Amino acid sequence: MFFKLRVIIEKDYSAMSRKAAEIIAKEIRSKPQAVLGLATGSTPLGVYQELIRMHETGNLDFSAVRTFNLDEYYRLRPDHPESYHSFMFKNLFEKINVKPENVSIPDGMATDIGSFCESYEERIKEAGGIDIQLLGIGRDGHIGFNEPGSSLGSRTRLKTLTEETIRDNARFFGKESDVPHFAVTMGVGTILGAKKLLMLASGGGKARAVRDAIEGPVSAQVTASVLQLHPNVFVILDEEAASMLSRSDYYIYVEKMAEKFEAEAGT
Ligand code: F6R
Repeated sequence: MFFKLRVIIEKDYSAMSRKAAEIIAKEIRSKPQAVLGLATGSTPLGVYQELIRMHETGNLDFSAVRTFNLDEYYRLRPDHPESYHSFMFKNLFEKINVKPENVSIPDGMATDIGSFCESYEERIKEAGGIDIQLLGIGRDGHIGFNEPGSSLGSRTRLKTLTEETIRDNARFFGKESDVPHFAVTMGVGTILGAKKLLMLASGGGKARAVRDAIEGPVSAQVTASVLQLHPNVFVILDEEAASMLSRSDYYIYVEKMAEKFEAEAGT
């Protein structure tokens, strides 16, 4: 297999979002029943807006697409305005033609979380696995809610959020004490099982985490660093998020060459 980890540096958040949406749209066009892994938070909002725009202009059909979200807060009702259920319906699902029965989001209200997590893994498997998994990155280097120290082989399970993540997410809840302390999240191993990974980061606040993930050692202390082990990865950054990378000139050069090859090959 041809392994690749492409680091694409775009000028700003809009360009990053457009590039990511193009990659997802290409996936759906080549496989209308594609299985998408989706993320919440501030980072993917621009991608979702772009996908909605493509759908509205008649360029993108989600009618056969299936989706699996990375995570959900534990014991936050799905109709809570800050649940990831609410987030996904408000920011994407209500505005495209995905079928609600094709949408899966972890159930933080499940009475038996352990068996729910097993069934979530099973459902992903039955769908044929995730074709493309969209990821953000936390300032502590987490993907999903796989906080530092998570097992790199972990599967979907309940995780305790770090104080940093709780503080970061307080902006959505108004006050820190309202942020749930636990979440149900796909594990690092679950994420590694996706056929393609698409990680996005924007802003200087993510620069250190991005550098540690891409250029640091693979470590459970920075769970995003496992991207270095995956065969098919796109990391799309804006210039600020890329500002601490030591090899950005090389990544930019490689991208120019890749574009040239793709244009010549007509892909
Ligand atoms: C969200 C998720 C998290 C976020 C990360 C970055 O589903 O899994 O890993 O991607 O916390 O969040 P933002 O984008 O809000 O900075």
